[in-house]
Order: sequence, then structure tokens, then C-alpha cells
Amino acid sequence: MRIYGPAWPALFALLIPCSTATSQLRVASPDRRNVVMVDTHEGRLYYSVQRDGRPLLTPSLLGFDFRGAPPLRDSLHIVDSSRSTFDETWTQPWGEVSRIRDHHNELKVGVEETKAPSRKFTLAVRAFNDGVAFRYEFPQQASLADFEIMDELTEFAMADNARAWWIASNRPRLDRSEQLWSEGPVSTLDSVQTPLTMEFRDGKTFAVIHEANLVDYARMDIRGPRMDNRTLHADLAPMADGVKVRGHTPFVTPWRTIQIADKETELSPSVIGLNLNPPPPGVIANTDWIKPMKYVGIWWGMHIGTMTWSSGPKHGATTANTKRYIDFAAANGFGGVLVEGWNVGWDGDWIQNRNAFSFTQPYADYDVVELARYAKSKGVHLIVHNETSGGIQNYERQMDSAFSLYHSLGLDAIKSGYVTDLTSEGHSHWSQFMVNHYRHVVEKAAQYHIMMDVHEPIQDTGERRTYPNMMSREGARGQEYNAWGGEGGNPPEHETILFFTRLLDGPMDFTPGIFDIMIKRPTGQPRRVEDPHPRTTLAKQLALYVVIYSPLQMAADLPENYVNQPAFQFIRDVAVDWDTSRVIDGKIGDYVVVARRQRDSRQWFLGAITDEEARTFDVPLTFLDPGTSYVADIYADGAGANWKTNPLPVTIAHRTVTRASHLRLVLAPGGGQAIRIRPVTKR
Ligand code: NOJ
Repeated sequence: MRIYGPAWPALFALLIPCSTATSQLRVASPDRRNVVMVDTHEGRLYYSVQRDGRPLLTPSLLGFDFRGAPPLRDSLHIVDSSRSTFDETWTQPWGEVSRIRDHHNELKVGVEETKAPSRKFTLAVRAFNDGVAFRYEFPQQASLADFEIMDELTEFAMADNARAWWIASNRPRLDRSEQLWSEGPVSTLDSVQTPLTMEFRDGKTFAVIHEANLVDYARMDIRGPRMDNRTLHADLAPMADGVKVRGHTPFVTPWRTIQIADKETELSPSVIGLNLNPPPPGVIANTDWIKPMKYVGIWWGMHIGTMTWSSGPKHGATTANTKRYIDFAAANGFGGVLVEGWNVGWDGDWIQNRNAFSFTQPYADYDVVELARYAKSKGVHLIVHNETSGGIQNYERQMDSAFSLYHSLGLDAIKSGYVTDLTSEGHSHWSQFMVNHYRHVVEKAAQYHIMMDVHEPIQDTGERRTYPNMMSREGARGQEYNAWGGEGGNPPEHETILFFTRLLDGPMDFTPGIFDIMIKRPTGQPRRVEDPHPRTTLAKQLALYVVIYSPLQMAADLPENYVNQPAFQFIRDVAVDWDTSRVIDGKIGDYVVVARRQRDSRQWFLGAITDEEARTFDVPLTFLDPGTSYVADIYADGAGANWKTNPLPVTIAHRTVTRASHLRLVLAPGGGQAIRIRPVTKR
């Protein structure tokens, strides 16, 4: 049975556009299309959002529940307000785009309780052309000095029963981002993660709820409608004792962001979160040591069972094997080699034995000093793996000595991991405790000039602007699920949803590039079609290098599987740092076509992927420079290719093109196409 809530919020929504109430404050985006209104009603504070005069969010409650104090919600009034406008363009050290414009209008609303304890705060609201954001700012005050937040009462009252793409937030036992997406109307949502992408029923409005600048606070999930059928609620991850946030004033919360676009193709690249994070602090003023790169790694072998993390006859991280990977990386122009299972602690059940991990002591067959020297002599970065299994104290105790050891050996990149349900201290993986831990690691890594790739992370909320050494992260189902085959691996539509959901928060270490798609089994058993394998064609694996953005981009397969493979040339050639990114076509869950121009270059790369349907696209190359001829190196699905039974055929063709040309892209079921477009002459 559906329960309908009180009628007045809907009435209030209707009244707002023509309200004459003097307390209503509004701020519009520079293009005037997005408007946020702030108002009080019977002592409660609400905001609402309009686009082109139509409601997107109807009046949505703001406030907090504190431990040992009345809720900060019921006797509020607006005491003052101020406005400002901001327009600045800044340059990213690396990214999907090099230059970002931060153009917004800001409204600050001073709010105070009319009764004791007379607490006060400021609601800061920013309206951008690509969305709106707000946060709570608490000044220092005697009636709110030390506090414990039990709940943030922020609502998102959707004006439309929009179609949402979501993954569940299964707190408190299991905080996992590694799930398949579901879709359904907002009214059916239970507890879901952000970014939460929604398409309004008019098909002409897209909105994404997320957060920015998550510092010293709990991560926000979204709880589904309760009192009416469309009001979503902020839902903060708890610490072990149930408290959501401990702090003292002065204090600011993360920004709650609502990205807005007319089409899904305009959602990416998403920069609203970056604009809401501060520029780097002094400790990281020089970013020359932070370098996007492609890498290979002692990794896939563990996932398909040909190698082990633990010591023994199949140990992957031996000195000899690592040298083989370093040689392969050097010969093929890769920047890095990841080595997992190099350090003591993997023997036995490494998830349960989390406190056994040493982050400095290598296994006897891994000569860390010699390998650091060898890698350096070949111009290759060794990427050090730090799996914690959620043993946070164990990791934090060793971090200084470990990072200083890596630094002294010239090792400047870490892939960290947090495979666990709850931390060793019993906190939610996404609690304030963990938010602070992840930030602590990034800060410490910055001090030691170490780049980070975090697995089992908290979602990106734009911290890479402040700490550009926070390069990539996992935070969704990556390629590894295709090796295990659990839940059938990732279906062909998976990456076409990822692009419009998870990837809106930031780069993902998805680990593309599997060439031995049917995965030879070490057992020599004949393969069955239902055995785990990536549900993709080989051409689609290439296209993922362009579609899924990561400044650390892996060629995930075993080196031997790239030998004598002409299509490997695309992985050698493809860039990892972009000046411009354009989504040419796309539909959530169906297909994506993306073009990106390499940073400091006139070379473009194009990637197109599809779900289980075969598709054809006509792509006009109008983005190319005038007066220039280019050669397009085209890696397409070959005759008869399909993800299920025949994934390997790839055709490679070369065509001269100009900006007047069109390319006809033919994609097989579960397929893709990858194109490098390099300038050859300038007329
Ligand atoms: C899960 C990570 O996603 C994967 O990349 C890694 O190999 C294992 N944990 C072990 O740390």
C-alpha cells in the first residue's frame, strides 16, 4: 500500500513561483536556467530547485539531529543573507579536460533558532550552469561547541517520479560499491548510493545527486521515499557506536550537489564537484612528479588462478617474474608495473588475518631493493600494492616507515586496498572514521611524493583537485568480476551504465585490455561457453581505454597474451591525459561514443561501446582542426564477432580523414570500436 504524506509540501511547491513572501531568497545560475529558492515555513527551513521555471525539487527540508540536544529543525528563521558571484578558469595538472571554468552565483543565508539553545548556521548555496550545490556552515558558538550528529535531515524532494539508475547501499553489514546497477522510478528506491543519476519523464532533464569535498564527515547515501512517494533523504554512514559525525564548531559539511543537464551526453565530463573543492595546499604546490601513465601488473594471474598472492610454487611476485613485467613495460612504453603479493601477510586467509600484513617486509623471493633499481634503470615506476583488508590501525602504524622506505627506493605509486565489510574497529567502510583515514593516507602520500590508486575506496568527491596525487580508484565492479564469474560477471551493458553513474564522480581503475577473452584455464580443461570470461569483444576492450577515464590505466592481461597481437598497438598508442573530452552519443545502459583530444597534442582518440545489441553510428569528425589531414587507425569488430561465442575478430584499417569526413562505426553485439586519429599534414 502506498502511503501519501501531508498535502502541504505539494501546495507550497505550487505557491513558490508566484509567492510574495518576503523571506524567500533565490539565486540563479549565470545562464539563469537553474534557480535555488530558500524559505522557511512554520519554523522549518526548505530549499527548492527549478530549471527553466519548472520545479526539479519541490521544497525539501534542511536540518540535523544532534545527540543530547533538540533537532536543529523546528524553530528556524532567516536572519540575513549575502550574495556574490565568481568566475575563474583554472588548469588541472591532469584530467578529462585541462581547463575548467568555475562560474557561479552564491547565496549565503544566515539561519538562527528563535528559541533556546539559539543555535545558528549559514546555508551556502551555489548555482552553476551545470547544477546547484549547498552546504551547512557552522560558526563557532557556545550552544554548539562539541557535537555529535545522529542524522542529517537534508531531503531531496523530487518533483518528478524520475527514472533512477542505482546500486543499493546495504549498510550496516556490507558497504559495497561492487554491484550491478538497477533502474526504476524514484518512488521505488530503498537505500542507494551516489552518484544517483535520474532521467525525468519528459526525457529532457537529467539530474545527478552526489556530494563534494567530503572531509571529516560521513559519506552520504540516499534513503528512499517514506512519507510521500518521491522525497529522498540524506543517509550518513555510521561509526561503530552509531554516531554519524563528531566535531566541533567552526565546521562545514560537504556540499550536496545536484548536477543538471538536458541530455545524458551533457553529464560527462562532470566538473561541478571539482569546482567545489579547494586548490592544492602548499605541500603539493609542485605537481611535476604526478604523472598519468599506463601500467601492467602481476595481478590478472591471481584472479584467473595461474598465480598466487601467497608464497609457494605459484607465487606471482618473484624477482624474476617482476623483471619480466618490467622488461615488457619498458619495451612497450608503459609507465608502471603493479606488483601484488610482494609483502608478507598473504599466506592463509588474508581477509581475516589483516593485522598480519607488513608493508615493508617482502617475501624472500622478492628482492625489493634490486627491483627498485632495475625498474629505475628501465624508466619504469614500480606500483607498490598495500592491501589492508580493512586493518586500519595496522596500516596507520606502519604508514610512515613504509612510505619513507618507498620514497628512499624511488617508488612513487601505491595501489591500496580495503577488502572488508567493516574496519578492524567495527566502523562502516564509509564512516567519518574511514573518510578521515583515506584523507590521512592521501596527505601522507603527498608528503612522500606518492601517487595513489585506491581500491574499495569511498566515492570520489573531487578531492583530486586538492590532492592531485589521488589519481584513480575502483569503487564499482571492475574487470576482476569477469575473471571470477560471480553473478555471471559483468553483463555487456555494464560499462554503458558506469559511464553515466559512477564515472561522473571521477576516474576509475577498471583495468581494461583483456585479450585472452575466453581465458585459457591452467587445468587444461576444455572451455565451456558459460565459464567466466569478459562479456565483451576484443575491440570493445580497446574502446574502454577511451570511454572509461583513468589517469592510471592498466593493460590488465598477462604480457604473453599481447604477443603477436596487432590490436595491442592501440593500447601502446592510446593517451591517458586529455585536453578535451566530448560525448558524441550515448544512452544510459545502451551505448556510449566518446572522443577525447590528447593533452598538448592534436591527436584524437575515439571509443564507442554497446550493450548486447549490435549498433551502427555515423560520427561526423567536425571536432578535428580545419585545414588538416589526419589518418584514422580504426580497430573494429571483425566479421561475425559477438561477445558470447566469437569475441576475438578485430579488423584494423587506416583511412585518411578531415573534419569534413564521417566515420561509420559498426559495433557487434557486446562490441566496440577504438580509433586513433593522428594529424599528418597541416595545409
Ligand atoms: C580487490 C582489488 O580490487 C583487486 O584489484 C586486488 O587484486 C585484490 N583486492 C587484492 O588486494
